[in-house]
Amino acid sequence: MYLVVGATAHFGRQTVEELVRSGAPVRALTRAPERAGLPEGVEVVQGDLTKPETLPAVVDGVEAAFLVLQYGMDAGHLLTAMRRAGVRRVVFLSSGAVVAGAERQPDVIARYHRDVERAIEEAGFEWTFLRLLFPAINSLTFAMQLQGGDVIRAPYTEAAFSAVHERDVAEAAAAVLTGGGDGDGGDGHAGRVYDLTGAESLTQAEQVRILGEALGRPLAVEDLAPEPVLEQMSQFMDAEFLAALFGLMAAAVGKPAPVNDTVQRLTGHPARTYAQWAADHRADFGA
Ligand SMILES: NC(=O)c1ccc[n+]([C@@H]2O[C@H](COP(=O)([O-])OP(=O)(O)OC[C@H]3O[C@@H](n4cnc5c(N)ncnc54)[C@H](OP(=O)(O)O)[C@@H]3O)[C@@H](O)[C@H]2O)c1
Repeated sequence: MYLVVGATAHFGRQTVEELVRSGAPVRALTRAPERAGLPEGVEVVQGDLTKPETLPAVVDGVEAAFLVLQYGMDAGHLLTAMRRAGVRRVVFLSSGAVVAGAERQPDVIARYHRDVERAIEEAGFEWTFLRLLFPAINSLTFAMQLQGGDVIRAPYTEAAFSAVHERDVAEAAAAVLTGGGDGDGGDGHAGRVYDLTGAESLTQAEQVRILGEALGRPLAVEDLAPEPVLEQMSQFMDAEFLAALFGLMAAAVGKPAPVNDTVQRLTGHPARTYAQWAADHRADFGA
């Protein structure tokens, strides 16, 4: 049995669907099964990571688990329950912000993800970490602006990322969970860190142009000074998290993002392009 945590949001949902497609037995954790809307064949179980008493039934009989954790979520109760239940393998969707080998991580996003990684390592599971820096779904934040016109106003429009399609994340996760794909050394995935990248390095401005082509409407980009945006957003989002996010974007200005063949090796096909992502998400932008 494969358990997916975070099964109702972007990455977990797609992973559940991928596992179902491959015929693997899947259990999905959610706080609200009645709203989960997961496909037929999935065992949907009610549980809450903040309520340890709900977790033994969730992890019972599980061989391997894929963890997608909402930023800041304490995984302690879950890891304890999984150890007790004899879960063998854990795949964690971590962040590309983590700096390999750093004694002290550079920001709160990197620190949170590295702390979870370390807790998984120390609990004695066979682990695999998928590190993702920039998912293409981040472009969904443009959708609201596009309701009101054809201009995207954002800071760091010249920051370059190799945006990863969530289906590639899901297929990579499913391959690692079920022992498919090619490990770095061809001898399995235990103890491996995989940096997931997309097909190409694109600035945010280039992404917007491609998105416009997919939507059939030319889009313009206006670069905003970061500080006022940061100040405004900090009124309704965690200020330290935002500062870390803006720092990652600032660091990505003026240099191409790394592109590797990890998705190809894990899934057997090249990473999907941003144009593919845009075509798949036309409906999210009202097209
Ligand atoms: N966006 C990025 O730039 C980026 C980059 C790298 C890595 N990531 C990773 O991806 C994660 C976000 O993934 P996402 O967008 O798919 O999910 P998300 O929207 O951050 O989290 C929502 C999911 O968490 C579950 N959840 C929340 N609280 C819970 C609780 N107390 N108990 C059990 N489940 C709970 C929800 O399940 P229910 O509501 O159904 O209970 C839902 O499935 C980040 O935290 C990070 O680790 C993101």
